Amino acid sequence: MPYAQLSSISSRVEDIVSADAIAVGFVKSEEDGYELVGAIDAIASIEKFFDVDLIDEISFFQPAGKPGEILEIPVSQKATKADRVFVIGLGDQSTQSHRLAAASLGRKLRGKKINVSNLLATQSQDIRAHAISSVLGSYTWTLKSDAKTYQPTFNIVCKSEKIIDEATVIANAVCRARDLVHTPSNIKNPLWMAQQAQKIAKEGKLTIKVLAGKELVQFGGLRAVGNSSPKPGPRMIQVSYQPKSKKKSAKALPHVVLVGKGITFDTGGVSLKRPYDTMMAMKSDMAGSAAILGTLTALEELQPNVRVTALMMMAENAISATAQRPSDVIKHYGGTTVEVINTDAEGRLVLADGLAYADAHLDPDYLIDIATLTGAATLGLGRQYAAMYTRDNSLAAQLSKAGDSSGDRVWHMPLVDDYKEALRSDIADLNHTADKGKFSAGSVTAALFLENFTSTRRWVHLDIAGTARSEVDAGENSKGGTGFGVRLLTEWITSLS
Ligand code: BES
Ligand code: MN
Ligand code: ZN
Repeated sequence: MPYAQLSSISSRVEDIVSADAIAVGFVKSEEDGYELVGAIDAIASIEKFFDVDLIDEISFFQPAGKPGEILEIPVSQKATKADRVFVIGLGDQSTQSHRLAAASLGRKLRGKKINVSNLLATQSQDIRAHAISSVLGSYTWTLKSDAKTYQPTFNIVCKSEKIIDEATVIANAVCRARDLVHTPSNIKNPLWMAQQAQKIAKEGKLTIKVLAGKELVQFGGLRAVGNSSPKPGPRMIQVSYQPKSKKKSAKALPHVVLVGKGITFDTGGVSLKRPYDTMMAMKSDMAGSAAILGTLTALEELQPNVRVTALMMMAENAISATAQRPSDVIKHYGGTTVEVINTDAEGRLVLADGLAYADAHLDPDYLIDIATLTGAATLGLGRQYAAMYTRDNSLAAQLSKAGDSSGDRVWHMPLVDDYKEALRSDIADLNHTADKGKFSAGSVTAALFLENFTSTRRWVHLDIAGTARSEVDAGENSKGGTGFGVRLLTEWITSLS
């Protein structure tokens, strides 16, 4: 399926009415009742043009004014194309309300060949969010053999083409990540992911290196998990971005290393997941790796003055005769030994190798991992906020800010030193699954485990188990992969340059 298109149009009436439909915003307040908001002058000219009183029409339906509520008002057709006005609730007019309103319109028009002039936002921050969410709301993914290939076009009233171009870049990057997450695991294995990354890297002039087989001897965690699936085995996909202009030498630019969990399917391994239907969601267990690849496609277009290296840690956690056993001891990149307790805690094993490799070879100024790591993160924060762990409070503040403004929101969680004891092993440097009975806090202990592989780097761990996937069409998310992390990382990284 193609993605919805964005373009910018002027606020001239002729331009606006030449689309198939027009979208305007409204709010409801206690004192003043209904009110139209957005590009007010343009809306007034539209009302005049069609000889319609939109407030009158809205009042008839008595909507609550919730963000994303949509009324469809037919207008007399003149010698123009537009024959209806979508009147959309904008809630409290916050950027988040704009996202919900835009996504709701996107969802309504999903799969339709329709052109809509959109007058809802006026501030650049809102226009940008609105534009991106329109595309995200209309997103769909299908393998139906009779799938239609239409998608809407949103003509956003906006003076700056740049805002719309950037929104297109970001929306497409999120959609790309979603496509990878949606792909079923009989198609998507570590080799397939490497081929996708190669294709994407080539289009965007990113450099790519894929490590497999013997090249992974030192990656004990990645091998222990990935060798459960006979062929194709695990992969580490390294994709790098560097700005085209050579104004500064590469060494002078800040270097961000992103490490993504790339489990193409998580059965739990020998410690099989129960109940079995919890496995249904586990084709999404590579969402972290998809998010960092998606981010790089956006950066390649936006060209910030930063160097970024993505390490996609790809493996399938299968149940098979070559699967690792609970009680195995493995040796990670860099030599740390780990006693495997529960083979379903596979994510931290593949990430540990990536973090240790990054520390040893890539000299990162910022080391960030992103992973669908623990069900516990979902229990704590639900599906709208990801759990963020870092000891660096200023970095946490930067990321929280980027999360709020981009829509991929994160919450700073504590690395509780008291729980470190849970990771003690009698026979290895570390025990990989904390004793639940004693400490609980599964998302915290997973983060504490990872911290052992980050040396003294400025490190952030993002647990996106709750946010990477949606079980329903809701808000900005279509059922399935959300692409969480692309907007957050793109926003934060571009803010560094
Ligand atoms: N991929 C799962 C975490 C997950 C669960 C992501 C639900 C999305 C939705 C991860 O590999 C896992 O199985 N974690 C275990 C860890 C436990 C065995 C310590 C968990 O959270 O139960
Ligand atoms: Mn697991
Ligand atoms: Zn997993």
